[in-house]
Amino acid sequence: MTLDTVKVGLIGAGRIGQAHAATLAYRAPGARLVAVADVVEQAARRCAEQFGIATATADYHEILADREITAVLICSGTDTHAQIIEEAARAGKHIFCEKPIALALASIDRALAAVEEAGVKLCIGFNRRFDANFQRIYRALRDGEIGRPEMLHITSRDPGPPPISYIKISGGIFLDMMIHDFDLARFLIGSEVEEVSAVGAVMVDPAIGEAGDLDTAIVVLRFANGVIGTIENSRRAAYGYDQRAEVLGSAGAVRVENNFPNTAIISDGTSVRRDLPLNFFMERYADAYASEMIAFIDAVARDGPVAVTGQDGRAPVVMALAARRSYDEHRPVLVSEIES
Ligand SMILES: NC(=O)c1ccc[n+]([C@@H]2O[C@H](COP(=O)([O-])OP(=O)(O)OC[C@H]3O[C@@H](n4cnc5c(N)ncnc54)[C@H](O)[C@@H]3O)[C@@H](O)[C@H]2O)c1
Repeated sequence: MTLDTVKVGLIGAGRIGQAHAATLAYRAPGARLVAVADVVEQAARRCAEQFGIATATADYHEILADREITAVLICSGTDTHAQIIEEAARAGKHIFCEKPIALALASIDRALAAVEEAGVKLCIGFNRRFDANFQRIYRALRDGEIGRPEMLHITSRDPGPPPISYIKISGGIFLDMMIHDFDLARFLIGSEVEEVSAVGAVMVDPAIGEAGDLDTAIVVLRFANGVIGTIENSRRAAYGYDQRAEVLGSAGAVRVENNFPNTAIISDGTSVRRDLPLNFFMERYADAYASEMIAFIDAVARDGPVAVTGQDGRAPVVMALAARRSYDEHRPVLVSEIES
């Protein structure tokens, strides 16, 4: 069977939009990126030149109106996602949207309803599901290699905090940073989280506290299937991006470590040492970003299911809202409290 080339439009030509454009240009033979839109027209033009995209525009509506285009990638700022999802669905486009869908559940629900009504595909950019390390944990659990899972621990630390201007619009540490870990937790354990307890602090930069946010947090999760999980986040790790996870099961454990730029171990008379881990997400998850995009194109081309659904995009937002309420009210919060 030969599959038609999927014609794609990119909305938002910033950091992550360019990463996806590179995948479509070099690693996804089944897709062709034919148009790019960015409110900063110069950014759209630069992206078009770099990746050989025929059309560059400042107005994404041109992409939505183009009948040749069957799929769009929404890689603009978070505050634009829900609105563009609604419009893209109404235009009949299949949609890949970066995380998070939105910071408020009402906006997410409107967007998901539009997708449902239009009958188009929506895939959310939770890239960690495609990382080779976390995939291996997933398979170990799926195949029963460590028996019945009992405890999960995710360590997730950034090398340094983003600018305060970004912190102010980010939605806070739970919605901006831990959201990836909430998604990973649901993905690995394969069960919904029922209860969330959070403790947090400002240890990295007092300005983060003045902006109403935290930079250090630990969350305990209670899953419907009985598993207990912990996630810890810090906005600062002096040694770089720290992305590890472990699951303890009834018959053993599975653990993944950080990825490094090389495998050299240097031993001398005083220590055994190695270079620092890959510094941040664009390096650490480069292959995961490519794999998620290739999987999305494949789902569109073959009319198959997407790997990360709209509901998968919504659930971590609910968990993040529960975590913030738990921190504010100093008590465990049921996820059902956020829903009601
Ligand atoms: N999955 C991940 O690991 C990951 C990593 C980084 C960013 N993201 C998400 O991707 C999104 C973009 O992040 P980024 O780091 O690339 O930001 P960025 O600021 O580098 O890029 C965003 C681009 O979108 C453009 N834009 C804004 N509004 C637009 C509109 N209405 N129409 C067209 N273009 C518009 C901006 O001009 C900018 O060029 C955010 O939602 C962020 O949360 C996800």
